[in-house]
Amino acid sequence: MNFKITVLPGDGIGPDIIGEALEVLKLIGGKFGHSFQLTEADMGGVAIDKHGVPLPQSTIDACKGGDAVLLGAVGGPKWDTLPGHLRPEAGLLGIRAALGLYANLRPAIIYGALKEASPLKSEIISNGIDIMVIRELTGGIYFGKRGRLDTEGGEAAYDTEMYSRAEIVRIAKVGFETAMKRGRKLMSVDKANVLESSRLWRQVVEEVAKDYPEVALSHMYVDNAAMQLVRNPAQFDVILTSNIFGDILSDEASMITGSIGMLPSASLGATRLGLYEPIHGSAPDIAGQDKANPIATILSLAMMFRYSLDLPAEADAIESAVVRVLDKGFRTGDIASAGTNVVGTREMGRIIRAEL
Ligand code: NAD
Ligand code: IPM
Ligand code: MN
Repeated sequence: MNFKITVLPGDGIGPDIIGEALEVLKLIGGKFGHSFQLTEADMGGVAIDKHGVPLPQSTIDACKGGDAVLLGAVGGPKWDTLPGHLRPEAGLLGIRAALGLYANLRPAIIYGALKEASPLKSEIISNGIDIMVIRELTGGIYFGKRGRLDTEGGEAAYDTEMYSRAEIVRIAKVGFETAMKRGRKLMSVDKANVLESSRLWRQVVEEVAKDYPEVALSHMYVDNAAMQLVRNPAQFDVILTSNIFGDILSDEASMITGSIGMLPSASLGATRLGLYEPIHGSAPDIAGQDKANPIATILSLAMMFRYSLDLPAEADAIESAVVRVLDKGFRTGDIASAGTNVVGTREMGRIIRAEL
């Protein structure tokens, strides 16, 4: 088969990790007989430098014209003083919105070989961890009205959390459908003891639940959820939550698995076109040093095969190659532990490809 993939390397470690993922893509193409037409486009800081804006229209068009988008990461200190709408991060929010990618799937799996890399005690993770965080991605406080005001008390700033019934229904359906294919347990995380938007969230999730009687639905306040993720992460199967809570809880969940450098994501909407990116950022502290863990990006590529290209065997091949490499003791610095073999970004990519 022939596929069109739009590639957005972005900033910082973005080009380092995307380089390794693209080599995996090419290898899979040869092995399984697919051809990929790759279109590289600018987004984030690199786009600001070249085009004056973080998300040029040409990049949106390129993404819309392909079967899937593979993204590295955006942002960095160089652009931190720009006004909000001109920052690299605005480009990322812009492409998620432009493609209608309202559902962000962030699987947090602790691999057997990585138990030593988890900061949690071995008895807490002994039975393994396999959590799917489903983060609403195009609504909430990220996209609500924000601004600055002069008040009697001096300068003020505000951001608004708002969710419509329709937005909650569609993400809740993704939550229940996902739970049906897994352990049939759905934990909806909100702050309904304080926020009106969370009270509507909880009400609508309860309504959608009527169509999924086989799924055990529970609710948890986000502060408790943050604590429970560390106390007993094995209690979770699918977590369904808002944009900002999902952002924060998925970083926490990633560390339970050993490192933020391990967690992939898929951003999906109403069509097959999805965007695939690691959940971590551009890690300016290690950019260009051959230190970044490319596994989150390589696993994001696997998610691309599964969700946008409908090629599960190719996805399985990538995922099991990663597991075997970890089993053999190869580690980037972020997941290293005593007795393991520490390698750089490029070497990790090469070893995963050799395993394929
Ligand atoms: P970050 O995720 O970039 O880094 C946090 C810490 O994790 C750093 O110590 C970093 O070295 C480490 N880390 C991250 N990815 C790693 C990897 N693959 N391998 C090894 N270590 C890794 O978060 P931050 O420092 O808060 O943000 C840096 C920049 O990235 C900011 O501009 C932020 O806005 C941006 N950001 C972008 C995305 C994205 O593009 N999706 C996500 C998060 C943050
Ligand atoms: C992520 C990032 C982004 C987010 C930022 C960079 C806009 O943290 O993808 O998790 O908050 O969604
Ligand atoms: Mn984040």
